[in-house]
Amino acid sequence: MKKFIDVVKNRRSIYAIGKESEYSIEQIVERLREVQNHVPTAFNSQTSRLVVLSGEANEKFWELIYTVQKDVLSQDMWDYMSPVIVGAKEGLGTVLFFEDREAVATMPTQGQRTEAYKQNNSANAQYATWLALAEMNLGGSLQHFNIGYEQGFDSAVREMFDLPNSFEMIAQIPFGSIVQPAAEKEVIAGEEKVRLIK
Ligand SMILES: Cc1cc2nc3c(=O)[nH]c(=O)nc-3n(C[C@H](O)[C@H](O)[C@H](O)COP(=O)(O)O)c2cc1C
Repeated sequence: MKKFIDVVKNRRSIYAIGKESEYSIEQIVERLREVQNHVPTAFNSQTSRLVVLSGEANEKFWELIYTVQKDVLSQDMWDYMSPVIVGAKEGLGTVLFFEDREAVATMPTQGQRTEAYKQNNSANAQYATWLALAEMNLGGSLQHFNIGYEQGFDSAVREMFDLPNSFEMIAQIPFGSIVQPAAEKEVIAGEEKVRLIK
């Protein structure tokens, strides 16, 4: 069994991903389901909905993103982002993170607080998923293509996979075997980020 701290350290943004894995896609999904049951949510509202795409569904999703983003991004951004989109298709699959707006509306909160809790619920689901993938020796990255429920930017995704209208897309994690590990990253001093006051 891996130590928690090692899993935390091993989780990095991995963009070069492949299809090798000691786990089947069904085993990966089963692990993600188990993990989601233990993710904290405001008022135990459990508003997050994950959709795992693999095979043809994964390819169709990234082809859609490619087509949309090609027309939306500036040339500079396209040069930067298109390898991410192309690379995502090479992996084992993608976890799409939605928040179910009907479930979000049942939280006994309003306005800014509801929005904050919705985003926090999703962030907890995202990080737990990313760690679970790392624990299974899988790499992934966190992406935010086509987000914007109010503007209808995510509606084509709901239509493509026949998902409920109340599903608001928040993020994506394309994942797979680690073809190229992440480079060292700059880390600011721990004392600056975590203070001890006695
Ligand atoms: C809220 C949030 C948004 C992020 N958005 C993106 C993104 O849109 N595209 C991307 O490639 N990485 C994204 N990342 C990943 C960060 O860039 C990355 O975690 C950070 O640079 C540290 O690198 P590491 O993940 O390898 O530790 C995001 C991370 C967070 C927490």
